[in-house]
Amino acid sequence: MTDLLAPQSSPTQERRLVTEIPGPRSRELMTRRSATVSAGVGTTLPVFVARAGGGVVVDVDGNSLIDLGAGIAVVNVGNAAPRVVAAVQEQVAAFTHTCFMVTPYEGYVAVCEELARVTPGDHEKRSALFNSGSEAVENAVKIARVATNRSAVIVFDHAYHGRTNLTMALTAKNMPYKNGFGPFAPEVYRVPMSYPFRDADGLSGAEAATRAIRQIETQVGAANVAAVLIEPIQGEGGFVVPASGFLPAVAEWCSQAGAVFIADEVQTGFCRTGDWFASEHEGVVPDLITLAKGMAGGLPLAAVTGRAELMDAVHTGGLGGTYGGNPLACAAALASIETMRELDLAGAARAIGDTMLPRLRALQERVPAIGDIRGRGAMIAIELVKAGTTEPDPALTAAVARHCHAQGVVVLTAGTFGNVLRFLPPLVIGQDLLSEALDVLDAAFAAVS
Ligand SMILES: Cc1ncc(COP(=O)(O)O)c(C=O)c1O
Repeated sequence: MTDLLAPQSSPTQERRLVTEIPGPRSRELMTRRSATVSAGVGTTLPVFVARAGGGVVVDVDGNSLIDLGAGIAVVNVGNAAPRVVAAVQEQVAAFTHTCFMVTPYEGYVAVCEELARVTPGDHEKRSALFNSGSEAVENAVKIARVATNRSAVIVFDHAYHGRTNLTMALTAKNMPYKNGFGPFAPEVYRVPMSYPFRDADGLSGAEAATRAIRQIETQVGAANVAAVLIEPIQGEGGFVVPASGFLPAVAEWCSQAGAVFIADEVQTGFCRTGDWFASEHEGVVPDLITLAKGMAGGLPLAAVTGRAELMDAVHTGGLGGTYGGNPLACAAALASIETMRELDLAGAARAIGDTMLPRLRALQERVPAIGDIRGRGAMIAIELVKAGTTEPDPALTAAVARHCHAQGVVVLTAGTFGNVLRFLPPLVIGQDLLSEALDVLDAAFAAVS
């Protein structure tokens, strides 16, 4: 391990349970939480965090949990990564906010320069910075509409794009994201995704694309389409990896139809899938790309990066926001990107996948409820079904997750049917910890199946 992977200040890289999970101090805090925080804000695992770093989260009772969630694909470089901490400390002492639209600063510009370098394609690019993935997606749609002078936006089954009004409309799943929150924004049209585990056997990526495109052409009309918005690997939808050929065919249709192809890489971006961006695995160059999560090592920062002619089609003052591209978040992003490059975190993500996939396949041999194993790099999921069928088993999924939590491993669930266990470790997690987490998962299946 290099110094950057195991900084002096980082908590000991171990799973250590000293109380039941959650422990007494966490339970106390949960009581306070319930009395003051809206019930609408959920909790996956009710342990309160004291510190986190590398591949562990340490709670207020002194338990050290293995982190296979990375704050939902955010701390790709690790929690409190040393370079990020140093950059933010330096920035916070210099100035905290001026508003980039009032008096600009270099950090914002430097982040946009980095985004032009790391995102797919060597065309002329521009970026604009925001605070959250939802906000980036909203702005990508605004840009596409202005640039094309069209209004329709195409999205896919199982898609997740956020919780604001427009992004709720773009998101597929009703509970918990949309239920009761309508009316939703108009001019959003949903078409079938390529979902190899659930599609008819042997449906190729090209055929799945034809199915989607036929629906767009017949129900919306190509000339009305401002943008096709897609996650190259779906996140909350259950890490659905489309069949090979699907993304390039959809992108090609967009270019023929004069529609903007927007890749939502909020969850897949920044080395998570074993390359800087998931679009690259199929050589797809998006017109616009939405970014957030892994970008800034845990500070809130998001971006739309894309073709200069689209990004510059917007009238001056049409994009922005008080906090967008906050200087602390920009300093954190520059430090994170440098860390990703220096530590080759794309390579680290591939190594994580190489460790996980054979272990999960061996587990599948013993557990017939594991219907599918999929993902790329350090974005891996298993879909649980009633044995021998494709009928989702959300109860088993929840039980396995609960068991892992109780044994000190943070895992997340996902999927339209709530039957997907997803793994998103920080890319700096040690192989020993990862392997131990997989032992716990193995034992969880033995205990609950
Ligand atoms: C693909 C994708 N798009 C958009 C979002 C929304 O991002 P945020 O929660 O930062 O608003 C998410 C969040 O999970 C996401 O995974």
